[in-house]
Amino acid sequence: MAGWIPDEKLSEIRNASDIVEVISESVLLKRAGRNYVGLCPFHSEKTPSFTVSPEKQIFYCFGCGAGGNVFNFLMKHQGISFFEATRTLAQRYGVSLPEKTSASKRQGQRTPRERILEINRLAMEYYHRILLKDPKGEAAKSYLHGRGITDTVIEAFSLGYAPKGWDALALWLERKQIPRRAAFRSGLVIPRRKGGGGYDRFRDRIVFPIRDLSGQVVGFGGRVLDESLPKYINSPETPAFQKGRILFGLDRARKACRQRDSVMIVEGYFDVISLHQKGLQNAVAPLGTGVTDDHIRLLRGFARTFYLVFDPDAAGLRAMERIVPTLIRENVAARVVTLPEGKDPDTFVREKGAEAFSGLITHALPVMTFLIESAKRRHGLTPSGKSRIVSDLENVLASIDDPVNRSIFVKDVAEQVGIPEQALLERIRRARERGGPGRHRQRTTGKETHFQDAGQSAPALRLERKILSMMLQYPVMIEEIRKRGIVGRFTDPTLKAIGHWILEAEGTWEALIPELISRAKDTDTGETIAQLAAGEDSWNTEGCLKLIRQFEIHLERTERAALNTRIQAAQKEDDPVLLAALLKEKQRMIHRYTHPPREVMENAEKTEYSQKESERDS
Ligand code: UTP
Ligand code: MN
Repeated sequence: MAGWIPDEKLSEIRNASDIVEVISESVLLKRAGRNYVGLCPFHSEKTPSFTVSPEKQIFYCFGCGAGGNVFNFLMKHQGISFFEATRTLAQRYGVSLPEKTSASKRQGQRTPRERILEINRLAMEYYHRILLKDPKGEAAKSYLHGRGITDTVIEAFSLGYAPKGWDALALWLERKQIPRRAAFRSGLVIPRRKGGGGYDRFRDRIVFPIRDLSGQVVGFGGRVLDESLPKYINSPETPAFQKGRILFGLDRARKACRQRDSVMIVEGYFDVISLHQKGLQNAVAPLGTGVTDDHIRLLRGFARTFYLVFDPDAAGLRAMERIVPTLIRENVAARVVTLPEGKDPDTFVREKGAEAFSGLITHALPVMTFLIESAKRRHGLTPSGKSRIVSDLENVLASIDDPVNRSIFVKDVAEQVGIPEQALLERIRRARERGGPGRHRQRTTGKETHFQDAGQSAPALRLERKILSMMLQYPVMIEEIRKRGIVGRFTDPTLKAIGHWILEAEGTWEALIPELISRAKDTDTGETIAQLAAGEDSWNTEGCLKLIRQFEIHLERTERAALNTRIQAAQKEDDPVLLAALLKEKQRMIHRYTHPPREVMENAEKTEYSQKESERDS
């Protein structure tokens, strides 16, 4: 799979890694029998269908079909390359990777994302050094100190300063032998209209490195030192930086989020940093854009209670209303923290201290209650006020897709505002019609379709999948499968390839499934393997033999039907030579079917493998 990492190294890493340990770092898992389950980080859900098997060392989501081994999880969850996932795991489990494979040998094979990450790291070191060690950074340093930021926190967040002038960073990167085109792609250097050169995006600004979960710098935010505008600018989106999926501070907040089972979502970089400095480390901020569904899904892996610390102005309210349906859908307990007029978390915690801030947190209202209360305050409970309150809330209520949830909140609103539930329901029905049904409908995955496109018959596919599951889950049958040449007769090419890999596999059973997944070049095949291995069927030899026999009978029927069609055609065409040959073939076929090898005879058709059973899990 990855030519530059020797296969032995890969299996060493695979053997050393514990998938439960790795996934628990970003998904809340709980034990369920032999597996662990949690809310899937890859799709919206309220009840856990995301399963991790410590025995098989795989994850699989029965809801959206995502699945794979520990490498696949990291790649998918953090959007990183196979190489990065390998390196992360190697580091974590103390497996040394040969130096030259990690650098020089794969220079040419780096993904665009990895190149950008390297440039970002160089830039971060540069900005940080200027802030702390260079006279040019003095003003910035006193600005930070003036806002109460300590050197410890400057270090912790690797804050920096981008100097004045037009090309300080551009020249530095050139000195570091970074090709100009690569510097442009990082977004840190902007190409000039003429001459092919470039100028720095961040100039005379405090710089905040933005890190992903693994601590890599994916982008930057930069603030001016005075009142000039724009106050903040950020790196543009790049292959390494998707704002909708990154939260500032999460790399440092994740532990505290877990410990407190809560996360505070604030608006700005300084809010996160100030709270952190005061010991409130479970704070994160989006990057100048709104909180997205992906953000919520990501955070849900770290905490069950979300505190939304927003500016309660009109824009803040709208931003909050927008995410309520997602918060409800994802089963998040969301509460709203209101700050006194004119304060943000940074100024509040600096003036009043951490305890006072924690006091606000304890008084936070559940998000729906908050929306109702603030609408009541805005409009009052006069008849026309009530009507306006309903206008404010009907869209939020209408966008809750789950009818049970919706009715709970409808009841709440009706009671607290003092209007008949029926009237409110009618307004919501109309709002839903306006918005179009299923506006917020969950994505469906269409995973199964890939098995039905090649003209194979559905029962054959079902049996083939079932047989592979059997091989993966009840390996004592593998010899029998091999003896009867079953895999060679599979109709689906992907399933056939997987079957052959299983037959060829060597080594211990525990290592087999994750190894097969590594062997699958594309993620779809990897997911198929995880899916096949993930079921918890209770296999026994008798049932397995029936299944094998059923597959054989199915093939025989198909073959016989095909032959009969050809015979009929030959009769019609009046082709005696062909007809004779075909009839002979038919005789041979019948003989083969009526004289199967001894052990097949013994087991065959005692009872047919029950159709119901094979349909159950398709
Ligand atoms: P605020 O204007 O509330 O700034 O923007 P702040 O964080 O309180 O900053 P200070 O305290 O004045 O230094 C909140 C967030 O919105 C984004 C930034 O991410 C900022 O942290 N923002 C703001 C921008 O992206 N661009 C802007 O021009 C302003
Ligand atoms: Mn502020």
